[in-house]
Amino acid sequence: MTCNFFNEFEIVKNLETKIIGKKNIYIFQETDSTNIQAFNLALSGVEEGSIIIAESQTSGKGRLGRNWVSPSGKNLYLSIILRPKILTLHAPRLTLVTAVALSETLDDFKIFDHRIKWPNDILLNGRKLSGILTEMKGDCDTIDFIIIGVGVNLNSSSNDYHDDIRDSIISLKEFTNTEINRIEFLQSLLVNFERNYFDFIQRGFDEILSKWIKKSSIINQKIKVTEHENIFTGIVIEVTSDGNLIVQAGTEIHTVNSGDINYI
Ligand code: BTN
Repeated sequence: MTCNFFNEFEIVKNLETKIIGKKNIYIFQETDSTNIQAFNLALSGVEEGSIIIAESQTSGKGRLGRNWVSPSGKNLYLSIILRPKILTLHAPRLTLVTAVALSETLDDFKIFDHRIKWPNDILLNGRKLSGILTEMKGDCDTIDFIIIGVGVNLNSSSNDYHDDIRDSIISLKEFTNTEINRIEFLQSLLVNFERNYFDFIQRGFDEILSKWIKKSSIINQKIKVTEHENIFTGIVIEVTSDGNLIVQAGTEIHTVNSGDINYI
C-alpha cells in the first residue's frame, strides 16, 4: 500500500530516473515558496537533480509577480535544481521542456484533452491546471543554476480558491472525479522531465519545440495579447526557436516574448 503524503521513501521507490529526484529531496510541510528554498539551496551548492516539495506554500510565486495559491496537502508544489551547460539566452527553453513533460505526464494519466497555453500553462476545459515559474542565477554568458518551479492542481476543489480566480482554475480531481495519487503523478513528471531535459541537452531544442507546438495547437489560433499597456489581437503564424510567438495583427507582424495571451 502506498501513502499519499509526500515522503522520500515512497518517492524514490521505483523512480526510474538517473538524476532528477535521485539527489537530495527536501520536503516541507509548509514553506514560503519551494522556488525560494530551491534558490537558497542552489546558492549553497546543492547539486543538479535535487528537488524541493512542499505540502503548502505561504508565498507561492507565480509569473509576473503574481501569487500561486497553494492549499495544503492537496496539490503538487515542486522545484527542481538544474545546472545545465547551455547559453544563458537559451534558459527560457527549459520552461517549454517542462510544459512538454507536464503534458506527457497528463497523457500517462490518460488525460489527453489538455492543451499547453503559451508560455507555460496547462489548460483543461479552458481552465488552468498548472503553471511553471523558471528562475535562474547567472550572467550574460554562463548559467550558475536554474530553478524550475511547477505547481499542479491535483486534488484541490473550487472552495480552496477565492471568488475572483475560482472559475479560471481546475484540478485533476475535479476533471476526473477521482482522487489523484500525488506521488505517482510526481514520479511520472520527474521521469518525463528528465527524458525531455536530457534530449534537449544532448540533441538540441527542435524536437521539444515541435512537441510543444503540437500540444499547444497555437498555430493559426486567434489571440488577444496583453504586454504591459500594449493590447492587441492577431493570429499566431509561427513559434520561434526561443518559444516567442509571431503574431499577425492586420498588416503588422509582432513578436511576443512576454505578457499574457487569451484565446479568442
Ligand atoms: C504561473 O504563474 O503560472 C507559475 C506558477 C508556478 C507555481 C509553482 S508552485 C512550486 C513553485 N514554487 C513557487 O513559489 N512557484 C512555483
